[in-house]
Amino acid sequence: MRVLVVGSGGREHALCWAIAASPLVDALYCAPGNAGIAREATCVPIPVDDLDGLVAFARDERIDFVVVGPEGPLVAGLVDRLDEAGIRSFGPTAAAAALEGSKAFTKDFCTRHGIPTAAYGRFTDAEAARRYIRERGAPIVVKADGLAAGKGVVVAETVDDALAAVDAMMSDRAFGDAGAEIVVEEFMVGEEASFFALTDGAFVLPLAGAQDHKRVGDGDTGPNTGGMGAYSPAPVVDAAMAGRIMAEVVEPTVAGMREEGRPFKGVLFAGLMITAEGPRLIEYNVRFGDPECQALAMRLKSDLLPALLAVADGQLAHVDLRWRAETALCVVMAAAGYPGEYRRGTEIRGLEESDGDDVVVFHAGTARDGDGRLRATGGRVLGVTALGVDAAEARARAYAAVDRIDWPDGFCRRDIGWRAVSRAAG
Ligand code: AMP
Ligand code: GLY
Repeated sequence: MRVLVVGSGGREHALCWAIAASPLVDALYCAPGNAGIAREATCVPIPVDDLDGLVAFARDERIDFVVVGPEGPLVAGLVDRLDEAGIRSFGPTAAAAALEGSKAFTKDFCTRHGIPTAAYGRFTDAEAARRYIRERGAPIVVKADGLAAGKGVVVAETVDDALAAVDAMMSDRAFGDAGAEIVVEEFMVGEEASFFALTDGAFVLPLAGAQDHKRVGDGDTGPNTGGMGAYSPAPVVDAAMAGRIMAEVVEPTVAGMREEGRPFKGVLFAGLMITAEGPRLIEYNVRFGDPECQALAMRLKSDLLPALLAVADGQLAHVDLRWRAETALCVVMAAAGYPGEYRRGTEIRGLEESDGDDVVVFHAGTARDGDGRLRATGGRVLGVTALGVDAAEARARAYAAVDRIDWPDGFCRRDIGWRAVSRAAG
């Protein structure tokens, strides 16, 4: 079959890498892709927000199946548009993608269906939000309602910081229309974890747990990023905790979305706080995590494509996925300066020596120049991903590969996986 993957990050490289290995694939395209994806797929220069262009390409090239990587085109309705054109795809409709597209929708949805999450208020009036913050006190969390590329959340240590966040989001519109409404919520204490499950709208197939590292600096310091590294499995999500997450969070969500007439099909990515009372939802994403996907892809032994097709076809109950028991760990290399201003176009060398049986370097912001040299074009640039018997071995292999990469303008965190490694040691 002819498959199109939409996106250009490390997540989409991992998806293309897994899908390219499927015997079901005759031709694989990626829009717009990157220099690493070009090894697995034919890249076509259509941006992810050009829904008309993507649908026209899929129709003209007789694409049988489209796999949508990022949230933007899902929230904008790409899957709905492909449905109308009679093209099968993996991902939720716009109505179902509201689980990521609107934090206020998700908070109200959790209330309707008894899904554990932080107590909250939602506000379109800044003065009412300020009153609520003064009543509740700090620490407290202020969130822009809409998509803000992972940046629309302020965990405020003081009431003044929270009030400043309200001003930035609502008065100064720091996140544009995403801040027309805000959610203010209780600060939860615990260990964060991600949990991934496939669903065809009715049946739910758990995938795995993972942990991400959102802050730019070692020791979880500095500003938030899209994610500086990840690993799977996450020790905090053991079998018992996975069972609770399924029963208390994921299953009621899938059932609730079906009851409300917006059945969710695709991958549900639950961002969770594992508290003393059990798992509580921080947020939903309606797509794979980046870089969590890179770690999951390396752990998956089964062919991914039939599972994605089964999601689209309502046949997920018949799918059985096999996983490696090993840990996979991804270290993100980013351009110096990220997540602030960074230089583009610097040269990366030495990648050929880095890939191996237990190591794959997934690309994010990369392109080849006219002379075939590899150039960094984005903030997050490479995802060096390794397998090992445990987090310590996977981490040692990933950093050994990082050290073989010759890119003076890049940097990475040196402590990816510290929770899993210190838990095993202690
Ligand atoms: P989000 O974009 O919703 O994942 O939030 C970004 C980060 O803010 C999360 O990864 C958490 O570290 C933190 N966070 C968000 N909501 C809460 C909360 N209610 N309590 C504590 N930390 C939170
Ligand atoms: N790594 C977090 C995310 O993909 O949202």
